[in-house]
Amino acid sequence: MSHIYISYHPDDVDRLFEVHEALRKANIADAFQTHETNTPGVSDTSRNEIIGASCVLVLISEASQNAKAIKQEVSFALERSIPIFCAVIDSGKLTPTWAKLLTNSVQMDISQPSPDALTALVAQIRRIYESKCPVVSVMNLKGGVGKTTVSSQIFGYLQHHRKNRILLLDFDPQFNLTQFFLSRDESDERIEQDKSVLSLFEPGLLTSSVHPSPALDWTKFNDAIFSTPVIEDIARPLIPIDAYKGRLDLICGQFELTKFAFLDDANSLELAQSNLQQCIDRYRKDYDLIVVDTNPSASFLTRVTLEITDHILAPILPNEYSLRGLKLLDMILTRFTTDETRPDVSVLFNGVPKSQQNQFETDARDGIYDADVGFSLSKALLSNALYHTAYLDLKSGNALNNPVERLAVNGARGPFAADLKRRLGEIANEFADRLPDSGA
Ligand SMILES: Nc1ncnc2c1ncn2[C@@H]1O[C@H](COP(=O)(O)OP(=O)(O)O)[C@@H](O)[C@H]1O
Ligand SMILES: [Mg+2]
Repeated sequence: MSHIYISYHPDDVDRLFEVHEALRKANIADAFQTHETNTPGVSDTSRNEIIGASCVLVLISEASQNAKAIKQEVSFALERSIPIFCAVIDSGKLTPTWAKLLTNSVQMDISQPSPDALTALVAQIRRIYESKCPVVSVMNLKGGVGKTTVSSQIFGYLQHHRKNRILLLDFDPQFNLTQFFLSRDESDERIEQDKSVLSLFEPGLLTSSVHPSPALDWTKFNDAIFSTPVIEDIARPLIPIDAYKGRLDLICGQFELTKFAFLDDANSLELAQSNLQQCIDRYRKDYDLIVVDTNPSASFLTRVTLEITDHILAPILPNEYSLRGLKLLDMILTRFTTDETRPDVSVLFNGVPKSQQNQFETDARDGIYDADVGFSLSKALLSNALYHTAYLDLKSGNALNNPVERLAVNGARGPFAADLKRRLGEIANEFADRLPDSGA
């Protein structure tokens, strides 16, 4: 859970519903409890909901400032370093106690009920909500540089190490990531049942008994009302379900994603994009990180991926050809994003020689190629690089009951395994530190 917990006084229920409705429309999950305002202590239900929340939104009014229960909820959240956001809903002033309690909290005045005030509130809350579960896209406009290797091995390591909740999305029509984890029979079956990425864009078998699978007809986009697939229906858990181990889930890729390259109706594409956005926003509540493995084309898929992306991780090989992929990435970012929406980029050297740094890598770190690629490559580079090793060569092997056994963090054995795991860990941690304050 990473919802917004709303703390409010029962007298303010009208304003609560107004805020709740605005958040619902923005696909931001919330929770609130009606409680006796003067009973001591925070109820167990409220405790659980506060602990799982990205932030606590307090509706500040004269009534709520006088309510013991609300003060207790806020103190409970502050003790656990959960951010507090307060929306002042009447014209009264903060009492000294509340002013002190809320010293470090963001405050907004929505005492004049207006759509603008609510829009501004939702925009601020959205920032907090998104930072609790950023979307990372592993992207480079070049193939064969290690995108799928990084999506699986680095984020598989991160999940294993931190026991957090990571969702992997396979947005490559070649779906190598899916083939890495699942047997062909299983992925075929899931795709046939629409338990795959196309269901994030278009209504299909998962959410309705009347719609055909969107994979059947490549010339048509189904513009019927879309509902987000329930995450448990569409995602394949890659590790056994165990609350203490977190989650590593995969939404399978499929060849039929290619249909978007043939659809040229702008309305359909816009709808597909907003359906995807809705799914991502809903799923943020269940994860700490969403990772998208992408394919190297400057198509609709790349564009929509950029719309949902908060941070890009671009693997490159240590040679001059890699610069072209990065330059193209920069051009596409410039074309499809604004200064405000442009995601941060981290670049990872992959496939470097184990024993010593080659000249290309040294030059790149010295900034020699910064002007060539159009952004500061030397600053974007992670200081740890991934070396070339047979352990990471993704050959589809036998399907395993437990797919994560295929990851180096679990499966690598032999003389160099410990060294490789250490390196994967250094990269995973260095990258996670670059993300906004998230559970990742
Ligand atoms: N560090 C590495 N060491 C050894 N082989 C690697 C490494 N990184 C990638 N590979 C291999 O190179 C090929 C391309 O990698 P992949 O991750 O599929 O690239 P992309 O997704 O960018 O097309 C795969 O066969 C993969 O196993
Ligand atoms: Mg790939």
